[in-house]
Amino acid sequence: MTPDTPANPLPASLDAFWMPFSANRQFKAAPRLLQAASGMFYTAVDGRQILDGTAGLWCCNAGHGREPIVRAVSEQIARLDYAPSFQLGHPLAFTLAQRLAALSPPGLEHVFFTNSGSEAVDTALKIALAYHHARGDAGRTRLIGREKAYHGVGFGGISVGGLVNNRKAFGPLLGGVDHLRHTLDIERNAFSRGLPPHGIELADDLERLCRLHDPSTIAAVIVEPVAGSAGVILPPQGYLQRLRDICDRHGIVLIFDEVITGFGRLGEAFAANRFDVRPDLITAAKGLSNGAIPRRGIGRPADTRNLHAGPGTSNRVFPWLYLFRSSGGLRGGAGGAGYLRGGRSVRQSP
Ligand SMILES: Cc1ncc(COP(=O)(O)O)c(C=O)c1O
Repeated sequence: MTPDTPANPLPASLDAFWMPFSANRQFKAAPRLLQAASGMFYTAVDGRQILDGTAGLWCCNAGHGREPIVRAVSEQIARLDYAPSFQLGHPLAFTLAQRLAALSPPGLEHVFFTNSGSEAVDTALKIALAYHHARGDAGRTRLIGREKAYHGVGFGGISVGGLVNNRKAFGPLLGGVDHLRHTLDIERNAFSRGLPPHGIELADDLERLCRLHDPSTIAAVIVEPVAGSAGVILPPQGYLQRLRDICDRHGIVLIFDEVITGFGRLGEAFAANRFDVRPDLITAAKGLSNGAIPRRGIGRPADTRNLHAGPGTSNRVFPWLYLFRSSGGLRGGAGGAGYLRGGRSVRQSP
């Protein structure tokens, strides 16, 4: 906001807006309203500067009010505010997919765009199911999540998610879902530096679920490489690779939910790059558009290229990648949404 930009007028009442994940009564009794943002700081309506320690909701990775983003979004909305992607297209959507593929772990070939991380997660689960179905392996319908996981607010995401308060009010959720044990182990790992040394064996919980359900019934496993909403839980050393190995052994699709960890959060484009473990699908969001516009996507490998899952989205400008390219890299800041399917071939069942 420039000094002569008028502030938004305060609303006459806060009643109508039902705020998500907020204690509405308490908030409205003592509202904390923001009116502007620049760089790392918000400005509250009373003029206080507030350090934005969480980059919005983990999404403004490149900082607030970045001029190239403001310009790109403003120019694009004036030129073409919306274009359908059903049987029509906009060149920038194709360019964006290409750039995302280039940023992703080797082998990523295709990106499918959605409008939120939650939608990206539900679509990734659908792609995994449709993949097995298309290969004649339609008995693989089970989805495995993990305790303490957050995968958004769609029915798929809360089913594979592991946060009790997000699940308890919504009935039986999706059928055929099971959960790995979480990896938070304060007793053994409290003072570790870097990745926690203890807990690789927790990945073997997937073998337990394979013994319980039979691997031939399991379609996919989804994990956050670093759990975010449950409190930033790092993966134990070797844990993600062991999950990868078990999925390979049993022909299970491995999905990394990188809605938070994507776009520079860990100093690389994706946690998959950082930990050198390649999932079959990556869901990404948030930093993809630096929070400026809804934007998520899915990438997929060549062997599922005939699959089509989920709705299309509008073709809009992609400011964060522009910023990334013009500023030369991800280290020291990053920021969209969607999911990327890793280009790795999903292995055949043994
Ligand atoms: C790991 C993870 N997955 C999915 C989501 C849902 O993304 P969205 O809020 O864009 O629907 C989030 C949101 O914080 C997330 O942290």
